[in-house]
Amino acid sequence: MLVTGGCGFIGSNFVRFVLNHRPKWRVTCLDALTYASSPQNLDEFTDDPRYRMVRGDICDVELVRQLVSQCDAVIHTAAQTHVDRSISDPRPFIQTNVVGTQTLLEAVRLCGAKRLVHVGTDEVYGELPLDRPDLKFTEASPLQPNNPYSASKASADLLMRVYHHTYGLDGVSTRCSNNFGPYQFPEKIIPLFVTQLMENQAVPLYGDGRQVRDWLHVEDHCEAILAVFEKGKAGEVYNIGGDNERSNLELTHMIIEAMGKSPGLIKHVKDRPGHDRRYAIDAAKIANDLGWRPTRSTWPQALEATVQWYVQNQPWCQQIKSSDAHRASYQQQYGV
Ligand code: TYD
Repeated sequence: MLVTGGCGFIGSNFVRFVLNHRPKWRVTCLDALTYASSPQNLDEFTDDPRYRMVRGDICDVELVRQLVSQCDAVIHTAAQTHVDRSISDPRPFIQTNVVGTQTLLEAVRLCGAKRLVHVGTDEVYGELPLDRPDLKFTEASPLQPNNPYSASKASADLLMRVYHHTYGLDGVSTRCSNNFGPYQFPEKIIPLFVTQLMENQAVPLYGDGRQVRDWLHVEDHCEAILAVFEKGKAGEVYNIGGDNERSNLELTHMIIEAMGKSPGLIKHVKDRPGHDRRYAIDAAKIANDLGWRPTRSTWPQALEATVQWYVQNQPWCQQIKSSDAHRASYQQQYGV
């Protein structure tokens, strides 16, 4: 199995999940090792003959073709993912998420039949209003992305559709809600706030903090991706949700409480431009057709365990934040 983006947050958790749950499989991880990923996320497999890491770009036609020709299946998690970065500079998002996905699809098409799962996001559906809790995104909801990141992921989804429809490619797409768990780069709200609070620094809450996200534990997500890979129908899309909707304000208070810090550390800052109000997933299709349901996303236990992971893995946080790749990307984005 080839896992693109295998040293990132979802990718590394998926590689670990597969090697632990399918002990006879072998995994090649292709990763560009950008600021947000690290080979150390999979340190425990360095000497495992079932695991191979290749550093490279998902847009490198020759390399991608070579790796695809050597494997039986592909899980595509490689992506630029941070919405705020996409607003500052959309270009890397179009390159990696759109051109990269097309490069991979073309390699799979040319190398013959191989199942490809594209790991996508519910953000492609746009936003839901706060005053209609009855509404959720289904797989039939229109694609209405509101920021450069979600537009690039919607484009990747459309390429998946086209390669199945036109070329008969054995592709399946997933759309998940917000992930949380170990090894997430500390620019996303949960690890960012935990690492700020560890140093008694303020946590920047955008706007009024009433935005709602559905929180899915990354291991629940990995289990769902594996179910889609093994049992999903070609050409289909499957929503994956945690059934765990929280406002950002509620989330922030829970993190503060779990860490025994003061709510006075909350700092309301300028809102994100075009900030989506609410995401909510209807995951009935994957439950009914593939028998998958979240079991690890229950709060407060799952959130508290995640907070503890970051508190206990401070060296990991420091290492990934001080990497050359992170420094260079920070400099490029903020000019400092
Ligand atoms: P994020 O983790 O960036 O995920 P996404 O934008 O893909 O949902 O943000 C989750 C929510 O937290 C989102 O509504 C924006 C908000 N947020 C803040 O309020 N402050 C922050 O510093 C960050 C990074 C996010």
